[in-house]
Formats: sequence, C-alpha cells, structure tokens
Amino acid sequence: MDGSAVTTETAFTPGPETARLFRDALGRFTTGVTVITAEGAQGPVGLTANSFAAVSLDPPLVLWSPARASRRFATFAHAPHFAIHVLAEGQEELARHFTRPDDHFAGLHMTRSPEGMPLLPGTLARFECEHAAAHEAGDHVIVVGRVLRASFTDGAPLVFSRGRYTGLAATA
Ligand SMILES: Cc1cc2nc3c(=O)[nH]c(=O)nc-3n(C[C@H](O)[C@H](O)[C@H](O)COP(=O)(O)O)c2cc1C
Repeated sequence: MDGSAVTTETAFTPGPETARLFRDALGRFTTGVTVITAEGAQGPVGLTANSFAAVSLDPPLVLWSPARASRRFATFAHAPHFAIHVLAEGQEELARHFTRPDDHFAGLHMTRSPEGMPLLPGTLARFECEHAAAHEAGDHVIVVGRVLRASFTDGAPLVFSRGRYTGLAATA
C-alpha cells in the first residue's frame, strides 16, 4: 500500500490557527453515532456523541468522552450510571435532537433501567453502564463504563463521516 490513491495532502501542526484543519483531519475517521443518557439533578439528560469506543471484553468496558464545555458535563462525567445508545440508519433526527439543549425527553418514549438510567427504545444497540473510571484528557474527559447489560437488533447503523450523517452504503 503506497498511498497512491491520495492526490493532494494537507499537512499541518495542530494549534489555534489550524483548528478547522484538525477537525477536518479527525473527520476522515468515520464513526457510528450514539446518544448517551444519564439521570441528572434536574431529570434525564441526553447527548449525541461519536467518541464511543469498545475497550475491553473481560471485564466488559467501553468509553466515551464528554466535552468540558458542555453544560451537561458535570452530569455526564460523574453519573454513577449511564446508557450508550447506538443509532440506526434513519435515526438522524434523534441524533440532531440530542445535540441541542432542549427539554430532551419531552414527547419521547423513555423507560428506565433498574438503576434509574433513562433508556430510549428502538436503537440499533444499547450498553447500560456503571461508571468505572474517568481520565483527564485536555478539553474532554475519558469516561470508562463497565457494561452491566447490552442489547442489539438487526439493521444498519447511522454513520458520521467528514462532518455529515450518512449510511454504510454511501461509504462503501
Ligand atoms: C456527530 C456528533 C458527535 C458528537 N460527539 C460528542 C462527544 O463525543 N462528546 C461531547 O461532549 N459532545 C459531542 N458532540 C456535541 C454534543 O452532541 C452537543 O452538541 C453539545 O454537547 C452541545 O452543548 P451543550 O451540552 O452545552 O448543550 C457531538 C455532536 C455531533 C453532531
């Protein structure tokens, strides 16, 4: 593999002047899309995130990274339990919904886990977690969750690539 398919390359050192380029470079890494939910002091909160990653099979650990700048940061960084919902193709509106600071659960069907974490039905997969660790990471914190329960359905994932929601067919 000699990289000959790449015609022009943009190279830079990440810093204040190249923040846009750094985002563009990171956006070349295609991800799924998740909604993280937790119970806050004022009720249930949810946030769209693509920083989710699998970490460990034994014990079962996953991670995601809440931004310190988020108004809901304290809730997500310290919640004893949280649920990670992997969105299916066609759930773009749900993804957009949870990027906004609205009354997130008004009008949405929601259930609760035995520990009280808010659960959204109808997603592609779900990981119900207890907080296992938090690691400082610049303007984000890496939150590690131990998976108490997991579930999944058949179907295709919602995909996020180069700053846009898309589907697997479009990236093939
Ligand atoms: C595709 C996508 C992925 C995102 N991933 C993250 C993430 O991993 N962590 C995070 O804190 N915010 C992430 N965000 C931003 C949040 O969804 C939300 O827009 C932001 O927290 C809004 O600020 P607020 O929490 O102050 O209302 C992502 C947004 C989009 C559209």
